[in-house]
Amino acid sequence: MKLLVTGGAGFIGSHFIRHYLSRHKKDQIVNVDALTYAGNLGNLHEARKNSRHRFVKADIRHAPAMTRAMRGIDAVVHFAAETHVDRSLLSADEFIQTNVQGTFTLVNAARLAGVKKFVHVSTDEVYGSIPSGRTSEKHLVDPSSPYAASKTASDHMARCVYHTYGYPVMITRCTNNFGPYQYPEKFLPLFITNALENKPLPLYGKGGNVRNWIHVLDHCEAVELVLKKGRAGDIYNIAGSGEWRNIDVAQKIIQLTNRSLNLLHFVKDRAGHDLRYAPDDRKIRRGLGWKEKRPFAKELPGLVQWYKDNEAWWQKIKAGSFKKYYKKQYKR
Ligand SMILES: NC(=O)c1ccc[n+]([C@@H]2O[C@H](COP(=O)([O-])OP(=O)(O)OC[C@H]3O[C@@H](n4cnc5c(N)ncnc54)[C@H](O)[C@@H]3O)[C@@H](O)[C@H]2O)c1
Repeated sequence: MKLLVTGGAGFIGSHFIRHYLSRHKKDQIVNVDALTYAGNLGNLHEARKNSRHRFVKADIRHAPAMTRAMRGIDAVVHFAAETHVDRSLLSADEFIQTNVQGTFTLVNAARLAGVKKFVHVSTDEVYGSIPSGRTSEKHLVDPSSPYAASKTASDHMARCVYHTYGYPVMITRCTNNFGPYQYPEKFLPLFITNALENKPLPLYGKGGNVRNWIHVLDHCEAVELVLKKGRAGDIYNIAGSGEWRNIDVAQKIIQLTNRSLNLLHFVKDRAGHDLRYAPDDRKIRRGLGWKEKRPFAKELPGLVQWYKDNEAWWQKIKAGSFKKYYKKQYKR
């Protein structure tokens, strides 16, 4: 099988490529990524030496390039997106263009080229804030941030191609991922690397927001299952087992890095900050036999160790354009 993966130089896409190539020894991957600020070929090291992986620098919004990229492809797994909620609050344009327009351009190119299936990777944030209970795949979507709204719109654009043309699109909606190689603007790598540098950990509001954490490889295995066994037109929630308040995660990071609680800095809350996401993922567990193997509480110490051992990777990013963003975001 020849797979086209978009966003394969980003956090989850790069893990998916490594994971998939190691499990499917005869398959090939074409990795389409525009290398935005979040794309980093350094995330892919071993995979780049693999002759079954081919990198193509291209933008999913560019229809002719996507049409070319689809030649000989059997299936698409679509990760490419603008992904950082805080950036979407500063400016939403890129989110609308890449996530909405780009997704439609891509799925349409796949359909017209006769690619057999398409997995669109989405997020639990489409359901909006859920103070209690759980959201099944049938729950109304009610996104809060421009990021979440653009992902919701991208789900609709992908799904309408299924409804209109019967094109086999499947959608996954996953919770917060954790793991190596996550761009250090995101909560966990920002807090871990700031703690390692003995810098303040900027916690929004009172830190009471609750997130469900899932290991990136558990997410990749779920996406792989949907690709192999998912039903055309269906949506699959994916979730980890643990729900954590942000303040508890921050305190645990401080403990694991042997720092002082004085590093905790409460900053003005994010506008429209969702309190809690809680997707109900019984459908993928019961229907496709997916299981979480790497729970957050058990894996967090190993993740902190990874950031200790791979300082060169994140120092390079933090010394680059990230600095300007961080200063603007946290006024430091
Ligand atoms: N990180 C999470 O916790 C999480 C949770 C659920 C769902 N998701 C979804 O998973 C996907 C991957 O997330 P991530 O955290 O790995 O993101 P990321 O920001 O680390 O990577 C995104 C990648 O997409 C590429 N990209 C952006 N715009 C592009 C364009 N126009 N054309 C081609 N490539 C482009 C970037 O260069 C980058 O390599 C996204 O669709 C995201 O919404 C993420």
